[in-house]
Amino acid sequence: MNRRSKSCFSRSLAKRGGAVLLGGALLLGQSGCGSQRTTDVRIGVALYQQNDTFISTVVENLELQARAWEEETSRKLTLNITDGGNSQSTQNDQVDRFLDRDYDAICVNIVDRTAAAVLIDKAEAANVPIIFFNRQPVQEDLDRWEGAYYVGARAEQSGEIQGQIVADAWKADPAAVDRNGDGVLQYVMLEGEPGHQDTLLRTEYSVNTLTETVPAEKLASDTANWDRTQASARMTEWIKRYGEEIEVVFANNDDMALGAIDACRAAGMTELPFIVGVDATPPALEAIEAGTLKGTVLNDAEGMAEAMFALIRALAAGEDPAQSVELEEGHYIWMPYRRVTAETIASE
Ligand code: BGC
Ligand code: CA
Repeated sequence: MNRRSKSCFSRSLAKRGGAVLLGGALLLGQSGCGSQRTTDVRIGVALYQQNDTFISTVVENLELQARAWEEETSRKLTLNITDGGNSQSTQNDQVDRFLDRDYDAICVNIVDRTAAAVLIDKAEAANVPIIFFNRQPVQEDLDRWEGAYYVGARAEQSGEIQGQIVADAWKADPAAVDRNGDGVLQYVMLEGEPGHQDTLLRTEYSVNTLTETVPAEKLASDTANWDRTQASARMTEWIKRYGEEIEVVFANNDDMALGAIDACRAAGMTELPFIVGVDATPPALEAIEAGTLKGTVLNDAEGMAEAMFALIRALAAGEDPAQSVELEEGHYIWMPYRRVTAETIASE
């Protein structure tokens, strides 16, 4: 919205039924208030960093949602996407600029998930809804304001599914995974960025789920920051050290699983260990079809983008979002994770 029409909107800013109503620009077309009608809708999307395979798939889906919205409403919707370059202070400046320019909603893939309070307070002061996604703020920060939301997936569930994929392979044919036949699965763990909820919980739950039914032994673990090249470097060191002893590779995401595959190939391994990832990105699905990646867990980028837009739509229509989206504890929208293996792909 533009500054001229602000006073018109602010009269319609209201709180009803505990929900923050976005009485502003999104309602402009229907408000009948004044003659200066701007029908543009502007949404700011602040990414922790642009160079991330999974985040790129979320962005693609947000663009699709935006185009669908435009077709539906015949109004222009601008998505302004910024790259935080992994710096919280850069991202704070980007969000400030969105708020200064009266954006209608802000979506934040926060760099440092312990730093949400400042952003939430600023969004509240401007009465602009703030939707976090993928990188989960702590609950006490979200609880600061009812206009703060989180759209994501439950990290522990992805870990459980990963552990289950490995446990099921063992159950189906122990010798296929337990190469040295000692009755124990020797594994390595490629971890995502330290401090990310998905790193902590996928690491913990994958192993805990596996060891409920299968004896396992950790050979090595290290962070590779979600990154294919870093994962390949870690795996290269482990192959030098443990060689064929590595029976299973848990990777907190697909890019790192693909990095492990790169390293196995470069080392000239003919029989790859049993490698699992998370995300179900397009290159990971290809690797599953090729048989080099044994399993992954679908991180629902499309569902997340849909949920973010469903929230924005509800707020724009002045509705309590809990009526149209499944909102937990007033703030959370959860996307379920899904198991993906060669069998599930074949049956789809
Ligand atoms: C994904 C990773 C991604 C990270 C970024 C995770 O949920 O699995 O692939 O790099 O989010 O925050
Ligand atoms: Ca073994």
